Amino acid sequence: MTTAKRIDGKAKADQLAASITEQTAALLREHGLRPGLAVVIIGDDPASQVYVRNKKRRAEACGFFSVQHTLAEDTSQTDVLKLIDSLNNDEAIHGILVQLPLPEHLDEQTITQAVAPTKDVDGFHFVNIGKLTAGHTADAFVPCTPAGCMLMIEDELGPDLSGKNAVIIGRSNIVGKPMASLLLQRNATITITHSRTADLSAVVSNADIVVAAVGRANMVKADWIKPGAVVIDVGINRVETRIDGETRSRLTGDVDYDDVCSVAGAVTPVPGGVGPMTITMLMFNTLRSARLSAGLEG
Ligand code: GUN
Repeated sequence: MTTAKRIDGKAKADQLAASITEQTAALLREHGLRPGLAVVIIGDDPASQVYVRNKKRRAEACGFFSVQHTLAEDTSQTDVLKLIDSLNNDEAIHGILVQLPLPEHLDEQTITQAVAPTKDVDGFHFVNIGKLTAGHTADAFVPCTPAGCMLMIEDELGPDLSGKNAVIIGRSNIVGKPMASLLLQRNATITITHSRTADLSAVVSNADIVVAAVGRANMVKADWIKPGAVVIDVGINRVETRIDGETRSRLTGDVDYDDVCSVAGAVTPVPGGVGPMTITMLMFNTLRSARLSAGLEG
């Protein structure tokens, strides 16, 4: 039985972060400019708190100026918009990220669209979505998760995906749709599947590249996979297991990793695959934003 290559997202993310740290030091040395990242978290969703803590830690390790604004669950929309406005006008800040999901009383679209497109390191502003969709990525911010996935796909298959079939499972604005734009730009043939897709496993079995981003633990099985396919698992699902009579919680992806490894060519694990790359791409976008603000790129 063959075993797929384990794509080490953590090692790749560390390598990329080391290069970002070097470039950050050079930017400070040569231009007196330190990239600044502001992360806004509203409410006390435990998973979001972990993600935000990791982002802040990584930003500081890269040598960035990093601030976190922690707002109470019941903060009004007006107050959130005021904070975003002040960050939009703060010269020390080059990247603004409002952690999702938001508490129910807040309007996600109004808030994400309030971030200045030039500081939208999440790539959620319509200006950045439009630029990405039009293939105008020279000065666009690409959403971090699909950008990280793309680098891992490129490592396996090279920059040109002509003739390759890519199947994306999930049509979210954060992953599925921007992933399709990025893969299309590299000449892949794209299918986006979702909860209304008929015979999902048959569609996936045609894919040379599978990107799973649905949020259903271990959904993708070996018999869905074309031999040799590159499988990118974006899912982060917390599942409870019983070990020695105790209930333990562990993270698992949308892909049944051990099963799929018997057929695929390369697979990302969870944890240690897409997650670390997502955080590092946020640093990449923030450094890029600082450089763009100084006219050093674009
Ligand atoms: N919540 C889950 N993923 C993301 C992300 O990429 N950006 C933000 N802002 N919130 C998230």
